[in-house]
Amino acid sequence: MAGGAVVVRVGPVPESFASGLAEGLGARLVEGFVKVFPDGEVYVRLPGEVEGSTAVIVFTGYPEPTQRLWEAVLAVEAARGLGAEHVVVVAAYTPYARQDRRFLRGEPVSVRALFYSLAASGAEAFVTVDIHKTVSLQWFPGPAVNVDPAPAFAEKLRPLLEGREKVYVIAPDQGAVGRAKSLAERLGAPFDYLEKVRDRVTGEIVLRPKLVDVSGAAVVLIDDIVSTGGTMAKAARMLYEQGAEVVIAAATHGLFAGEALEKMRKAGIVHILVADTVKAPEDVDVASVGRLAADAVKSVLEAVAGYESEG
Ligand code: R5P
Repeated sequence: MAGGAVVVRVGPVPESFASGLAEGLGARLVEGFVKVFPDGEVYVRLPGEVEGSTAVIVFTGYPEPTQRLWEAVLAVEAARGLGAEHVVVVAAYTPYARQDRRFLRGEPVSVRALFYSLAASGAEAFVTVDIHKTVSLQWFPGPAVNVDPAPAFAEKLRPLLEGREKVYVIAPDQGAVGRAKSLAERLGAPFDYLEKVRDRVTGEIVLRPKLVDVSGAAVVLIDDIVSTGGTMAKAARMLYEQGAEVVIAAATHGLFAGEALEKMRKAGIVHILVADTVKAPEDVDVASVGRLAADAVKSVLEAVAGYESEG
């Protein structure tokens, strides 16, 4: 590969993620310059190192997802303009991924529009961490890889769970059960998901694990996103009502909109773990996934460029 790989950070990607990515690739980390004009238009300028390189443009979709996305699109186009040999996009957190189908007539498939915009501007390959549904990657017109944060989460959780006899990894709904399975396998624990059932006594709809009995257990709740914290808080409350001893929350993308953290703590969640895909609040535990993203980038580069690491 003529010019080697250069990781270009565009926007507020956490330092640990960007440097983990660059180190894992044995690549230089450079900054894309971004500013917003008084009328709201976004300006991006990339450094000269991108010329002739394999440009790995890294961005994250939070905060201000729409601006972040547009910065990434402009950075891809700028990399092409500088004569980058290959352009790969890494989205630490992919915004708009929950709108992955037309729930109502007249709606867009937003995540598909996002992929088309990046690809049309010159992105050849795409890597992201824990996208809402991996099936969405089919719409990126080139190699696209999802990074599972479970190895990094397991490393953080093992010491916390040491000595506990009964540990379950539970997803808040069936759609997230794949995440629970992957983490549970690494922790050597059973997994399950919560389903809505009508309580025979009160007649109320409650959330209950499909298979396991959580009484006396340490439960790790796992999800892709914490936004308002409502999903995690409700799940934790239900699990405590059903006898769980301790509930820990692990979510890849900690957006923590509004009072999310307070809501989760009030529900009794004793430990909150996120990945470094978006900036985390000070008092939250953070697992670094940049190195895992680097491995995924290597695999897509093999497809587009016959990549060999220089690190
Ligand atoms: C939904 O489909 C996602 O997987 C998350 O469960 C959801 O985004 C969490 O949102 P909130 O924190 O607002 O409940």
